[in-house]
Amino acid sequence: MKTVVLNATDPEAIESAAALLRDGQLVALPTETVYGLAGNALQTAAVREIFAVKDRPLFDPLIVHVREGEQVRQLASPPLSSIPLLDQLTEEFWPGPLTILAPRTGLVPDIVTAGRPLVALRMPSHAVFRQVLQSFGGPLAAPSANRFGRVSPTTAAHVERELGGRIPLILDAGPTSFGLESTIVRLTSEYIELLRPGPITREDLEQYGPVKDRTASAKVQAPGQMPSHYAPEHPVRILRRGESPGKEERAGLICWGPPALRRDYVRVRSLSEKYDLAEAAARLFAVLREMDSADLDTIYVEPLPECGIGAAVMNRLHRAAAATPREQTQRT
Ligand code: TXA
Ligand code: MG
Repeated sequence: MKTVVLNATDPEAIESAAALLRDGQLVALPTETVYGLAGNALQTAAVREIFAVKDRPLFDPLIVHVREGEQVRQLASPPLSSIPLLDQLTEEFWPGPLTILAPRTGLVPDIVTAGRPLVALRMPSHAVFRQVLQSFGGPLAAPSANRFGRVSPTTAAHVERELGGRIPLILDAGPTSFGLESTIVRLTSEYIELLRPGPITREDLEQYGPVKDRTASAKVQAPGQMPSHYAPEHPVRILRRGESPGKEERAGLICWGPPALRRDYVRVRSLSEKYDLAEAAARLFAVLREMDSADLDTIYVEPLPECGIGAAVMNRLHRAAAATPREQTQRT
């Protein structure tokens, strides 16, 4: 299949995307977090195609993207006790990078939630995604537009490398602004369970109730927590204080702050020269991809402060480091 990349400002771009979606086909679209692979959330065949194109196992459920509150009422029936908290969070953070799990209605096909009782809902703020939602007219299922287990795409070129030849259309709106996937939460009447850290930070959520952190556990059940997620080709290692690479090693360094001269490394990239966590988040996946395509034995990373969005950056880095790269099995 030939993959067409259209500039999202092209007058035909939005309509072409909506027409393909109405026809049950898939389109890669920008969101404010990462690029997503969108399909009609209410059509089992379209959703099945999303899993096939990504090589994603059917047990890993998808986020449903909506344009307005009425769609939420059609897709979810939250218990009365959690509605006040739900209303507060959506009022404050929607549209935006927050995904909320809520009990689904019969309208949501089984395949979307992998048979689970909760559906993940998100109202994205990116103007292009919103225009497509408006023109298409219904909810869109959209995982990150990468092959399963790999780093999420933050540019149209990343999407093309991941899924080129497998989908008919990519809308290009430049690099995404947050650069990390949305925060995922589950609500009870008393507290907020944080399942995936993201651009809406723990500190942001704490304004609305106690937050229980479910992100640190290495268990597979929580979203985005499959051990194979964010697996690069080369081993990633988070530097401990005083640690340096081996003598024979071709080492790369992803640093925090100015990339001062470092003799031990053949390639050095900074996540943010001015110690800006938001910039680091926005650059993380592109820098990881760039390092991963270089001829290196190991990609070392300097840790960042785990406050604000830094917690989400470190979460993704720990997952990249925990993943077993293809090479490493032979190396040790
Ligand atoms: O920012 C984002 O959330 C991006 C953009 C495209 O919206 N999407 C995204 O989707 O990151 P995906 O599929 O790559 O990650 C969604 C995570 C998965 O780890 C999945 O297991 C979890 O959310 N998830 C989705 N529905 C769920 C459900 N009903 N119950 C539990 N976990 C769920
Ligand atoms: Mg993903």
